[in-house]
Amino acid sequence: MVLCSTKRLQKLFLGLIITCLVMLNHIQLDLPSKETCACVQCLMDGDVDPWFRERYKSPVPVFLSRGNSEISPNTWEWWQRLQGRPSKENISAIVQTLFSLFPDGELYSDAGPRRCRTCAVVGNSGNLQGSQYGPLIDSHDFVIRMNRGPTAGFEKDVGSRTTHRAMYPESAKDIDNSTHLVLVPFKVKDLQWVVSLFATKDIPWANQKLKPKIQANKDKVMILNPEFIRYVHESWLKKQGLYPSTGFIILVFSLHICDQVSVFGFGAKEDGTWHHYYDKKYHLHFNRGNHKGSNEYNTTLELHQRNKIQMYKGW
Ligand code: C5P
Repeated sequence: MVLCSTKRLQKLFLGLIITCLVMLNHIQLDLPSKETCACVQCLMDGDVDPWFRERYKSPVPVFLSRGNSEISPNTWEWWQRLQGRPSKENISAIVQTLFSLFPDGELYSDAGPRRCRTCAVVGNSGNLQGSQYGPLIDSHDFVIRMNRGPTAGFEKDVGSRTTHRAMYPESAKDIDNSTHLVLVPFKVKDLQWVVSLFATKDIPWANQKLKPKIQANKDKVMILNPEFIRYVHESWLKKQGLYPSTGFIILVFSLHICDQVSVFGFGAKEDGTWHHYYDKKYHLHFNRGNHKGSNEYNTTLELHQRNKIQMYKGW
């Protein structure tokens, strides 16, 4: 009698567990899935990858604005080291001037299940030659180019649209009215340079070979936050190299402002030189100079292998 009721209880208990599991499963199925964007595949989907999590820090400010222009002592120190000598400039005065001229405020902070922003990040590698990637590159919402990489004459391989062009004074180039100028300030003076372009017209360091003027739309100027550049160096490159290349900074930038990222034009020649698709000049080996190109390339490959970006390696 007692044996019989124990068995019955066991069966009842098992049945209860199974019912609970089925219900749980059912509830999970009925719950809206946790979609991070409206694209078929989103960069932040399945965000449990410890490698990615260890590197990606969403609270780091991407752009400089009046509201976040207090530069932390660590970043200030790092930034000073980068430019080789202490800076005497009054940063808060520069920031005040900057944002009396250029748009201020939160930019691209609209990530969510309704947004699908696809981005093509186009580096200047010679591997773009003969790639025929042009139409594919142009099909993205944002086409982000950098430094002097031209489109005219190279459309078949690199496309013709440019929504954003990242540059610093020494790599500046004229851009059309619809393109955003994304300033990558490697030095405090780079902030003064962008002010001088549109306001004072007085380039702060006249003895260098800087273009005294460039054509660009003042209302489309965006300035990367030095905190962001340091974060790329420390969190993504583990401090290898003196500082990250423009291309690698812009790659991480795209991880912060896009939902899907395709990468083109990254990768050195077989002999390790950092060749360009648009010239045949002598190029530096990617591990000499200020950047650790091999580390940047391997990190980019890792992002591709972990399905965070799609990398097009060209030829
Ligand atoms: O040479 P430049 O700095 O203008 O190129 C833009 C970016 O493209 C570089 O900062 C680098 O990240 C990437 N690049 C590359 N391989 C090359 C040339 C450039 O990965 N051969």
